[in-house]
Amino acid sequence: MIVSSKILLKKAQERKYAVGAFNTSDLEITKGIVLAGEEMKSPIILQTSEGEIKHGGMEVFFDTLKSFAEEASVPININLDHGKSFEMCKWAIDTGYNSVMIDGSKLELAKNIELTKSVVDYAHSKDVVVEGEIGLVPTPKKGEDVEILKTNPKEAERFVKETGVDFLAVGIGNVHGTYKGEPKLDFGLLQEIKRVVSIPLVLHGGSGISGEDIKKAVSLGICKINVNTELREAFTKTLRESLKDEDVVKPYDVMEPVEEAIEKVVKNKIAIFGSANKI
Ligand code: G3H
Ligand code: ZN
Repeated sequence: MIVSSKILLKKAQERKYAVGAFNTSDLEITKGIVLAGEEMKSPIILQTSEGEIKHGGMEVFFDTLKSFAEEASVPININLDHGKSFEMCKWAIDTGYNSVMIDGSKLELAKNIELTKSVVDYAHSKDVVVEGEIGLVPTPKKGEDVEILKTNPKEAERFVKETGVDFLAVGIGNVHGTYKGEPKLDFGLLQEIKRVVSIPLVLHGGSGISGEDIKKAVSLGICKINVNTELREAFTKTLRESLKDEDVVKPYDVMEPVEEAIEKVVKNKIAIFGSANKI
């Protein structure tokens, strides 16, 4: 069933768990995510970045996700992940997405506020909720050193007040993709942000963070955790294995282990996020 993340994250915030937001770009990934949610009786956020939507087929892919969400026995919200422009967010809202993320984190504060507010105004007029980002969650290449621009709590407070966003993605040492060395989340900063921002907080770059750190982040106010890289790695690694048997030629026989691998990763995450049996 489709349920807005406004409701899903409010419940998560009250009961101190996080809802997993899992990226998808095709049928097998989607099936694996939804099955995992159903088996764990967990709410789910299915999300697509701009590249994933283009690969999936724009409206056609959205319709597929919507069918899965409607048929599912657990609550599912469909989210646009990292929308980069007002136009992209408008497309998603008009197409039927339940929530959109407008990512103006590379802009200077005033411009980020202006862009985010324009999306919030349009989205709210259509009953769609919005996630904004302040601070910068970088996407380093494997092994590369990157400068992490952490969220400034004062700026976060102003950003939320002036934009009216529903959820806030924060930079507390988290990065997208693969971490160089051990991830070092700044829990003190997360506490400071939480003191001045009351809306649900979002952690991007959920792959590669230890279960212990994730649980701590959730206990300190993270209500939504985005996971993509671990799904992509499970997909490609399993597909390579699956293709080794040259006698297997039916596409659905090749892809079945891939779907199972995705399901396994998602079930593990759900167990760590604490969202099992919360429907
Ligand atoms: O928006 C998507 C995510 O932040 C995923 O990050 O690929 O590091 O898991 P990840
Ligand atoms: Zn992200």
